[in-house]
Amino acid sequence: MNLKSILLTLFFSSAGITTSTAQEIALSKSSLVGNGIAEFIPKGFDKNKTPSLILSSEPKSSGKLPADWSLIPQFSFNNNKASAVLNLKGEISLYGGGEVTGPLLRNGQAIKLWNTDTGAYSVEGGKRLYQTHPWVMGVRADGSAFGIIFDSTWKAELITNSDQIIYNSEGALFRVYIIDRKSPQEVIKGLSELTGTIKLPPRWALGYHQCRFSYDSEKRVMEIADTFREKKIPCDVIWMDIDYMQGYRVFTFDSIRFRNPKILNDNLHKKGFRAVYMIDPGVKVDKEYAIYKSGTQNDVWVKKPNGEEYHGKVWPGDCAFPDFTSPKTRNWWAGLYKDFMSTGIDGVWNDMNEPAVNDNDFPEAQRLGTMPYDTPHKGGGNLPQGSHLLYHNAYGRLMVEASYEGILKTNPSKRPFLLTRSNLMGGQRYAATWTGDNYASWEHLKLSVPMSLTLGLSGQPFNGPDIGGFLGNTDGDLWASWLGFGALMPFARGHACAGTNDKEPWAYGAEIEKTSRIALERRYRLLPYLYTLFYESSKTGMPVMAPVFFADSKDLRLRTEEQAFLLGENLLVVPAFAKDPVLPSGIWEEINLVEGEKQDKYQAKLLIKGGSIIPAGKIIQNAGENSFDPLSLFVGLDKNGKAIGNLYLDDGDGFGFEKQDYALVTFKAEKKDNSLIIKVSDVVGKRNSKEINKINASVFWNGKAYSGNGTFKDGITIDLK
Ligand code: NOJ
Repeated sequence: MNLKSILLTLFFSSAGITTSTAQEIALSKSSLVGNGIAEFIPKGFDKNKTPSLILSSEPKSSGKLPADWSLIPQFSFNNNKASAVLNLKGEISLYGGGEVTGPLLRNGQAIKLWNTDTGAYSVEGGKRLYQTHPWVMGVRADGSAFGIIFDSTWKAELITNSDQIIYNSEGALFRVYIIDRKSPQEVIKGLSELTGTIKLPPRWALGYHQCRFSYDSEKRVMEIADTFREKKIPCDVIWMDIDYMQGYRVFTFDSIRFRNPKILNDNLHKKGFRAVYMIDPGVKVDKEYAIYKSGTQNDVWVKKPNGEEYHGKVWPGDCAFPDFTSPKTRNWWAGLYKDFMSTGIDGVWNDMNEPAVNDNDFPEAQRLGTMPYDTPHKGGGNLPQGSHLLYHNAYGRLMVEASYEGILKTNPSKRPFLLTRSNLMGGQRYAATWTGDNYASWEHLKLSVPMSLTLGLSGQPFNGPDIGGFLGNTDGDLWASWLGFGALMPFARGHACAGTNDKEPWAYGAEIEKTSRIALERRYRLLPYLYTLFYESSKTGMPVMAPVFFADSKDLRLRTEEQAFLLGENLLVVPAFAKDPVLPSGIWEEINLVEGEKQDKYQAKLLIKGGSIIPAGKIIQNAGENSFDPLSLFVGLDKNGKAIGNLYLDDGDGFGFEKQDYALVTFKAEKKDNSLIIKVSDVVGKRNSKEINKINASVFWNGKAYSGNGTFKDGITIDLK
């Protein structure tokens, strides 16, 4: 960039003059801020125009970029709108972008970053969804990888051409972070170093969740819960959608249909269920309603440019919206959870928090589906005042920060469980997510795999779809096919829209009920493995559900595989719908967890990686029951007759694990002559692993299966002759 264009740029930007041609913007600073992580700051960048809401803390410079650092973004300004481009050399496979429809491999895709309520992913052909992740990961032919974060929340588009990654925002200049490391896994670790990881969820949140918009009375909720137990179909959580509220007023209970939430929640608890309740951001404008009154007294509402309260329509009609950019408002919101949760509520579901506003009575051209762009937000603390164009994509993220704090404060000795529809990259620190209002179709069933994988590659491992499809009617074939692999996704919840057919595991007749039971029993057998993966993810950011190319990032055949997926590194899941999936080479042996699964055409195939040990538990009906009587180990030996694997144990809730009350057990298996010896080789943490005594093992060696028993203390010896 020459001096003239720098001067012109400075003149135009400081004078706020709009030009129609792009002005190149030079870098004011580039430096290393971590191992293989570079920060790029363009000249004219101003934190008060583009605050960072993505990073978990302000990065610290740790030195100059190495001389051979090759990935350097170019910034530009066009009509006061900042962009950045990263030019790519060679064949690169691109991934990421957060919540997206379309293929796993993102080369040649474009998405809009403007959080949107998009039923059946229909808005702008599925290019604009509920969340914002300005992030792309590239994997080179040699298996090394890089990733780029555009640290901005302004309305934007993200274009992933094969030779360029382009981020065009509608706002001020922003910082860029680039991670360049030896593998995609290392890049995802780098992403979590910048944006944080999920918190370890309570173990029950890894069970199966049953939800429906229209479980509309305490009686219906208990019928559903009782049916799970009568039919012995494992389940941990029943969800309360908006039906429980008094006229859709958040933090209230319907005085007739949900007259006694405490008794309802107690009854659910007695049967081994947890109760999750929905809370939306829109607060009904009603002068008699305590929450609205309190919000008004505390001056928390978003206002229009003329200072009047902004009102938008959601379920209860006209609503006011908390301005979550203000710390005072977040604090007020957090405080609302205390009385609400004291009824025995275990978890919270934040919905409609794009925020979605129903403006269908406007002429089509004027519909925004949210607040007008120029709606001001107060800011406070580290956040400047700014328009909705800046803060829209952070609204859900700031809401879940406040909700998380409120839930934790209410029950400080329990791990919060919060699910959100809208979010921003980095928001995985506060809430799990699901992929919004999908449709009961084969297209959306198949799409749910790359969608979940892409979220996992964008920092959000705790996610899953509405199993069965939310909108439209579901038939038994679709339900069973979806649950056959959906039961193995990180967040496993069946959900359905009001007005659609019943979508519980027993709703499709005896055969599909049996299939559903098997699918969920498999999940529950795998809980010890899943919990271990979530623990690891909470430390490193690794996706729980990972793309098959993670098995070998040099194997170019695997780069587009989006039907099969990995659970952790050691278990390969091949859904029944998969046609000619491309699987990794090496040793992968099929394992069986539950009787009848082999004969069931809907169940996904499960393959253990040679060289690994997968811990499994008993079939239990909820995560609170004892998994470990006995513990099962699936052992896939590598070509040298060796295997290794981990099991993480703790109380399943609370924070004892932060004070060493956990055990991370490493099991090793080794073949010596004709014997296989499996034993505990290491235990990290101070927990005595007393809950485990007996162990049984299923071993795969040279294409044959063996089994044996032993104890945690003494290990297992198996004759391989
Ligand atoms: C929209 C959510 O996406 C859906 O899951 C929920 O059932 C409805 N809102 C009703 O609350």
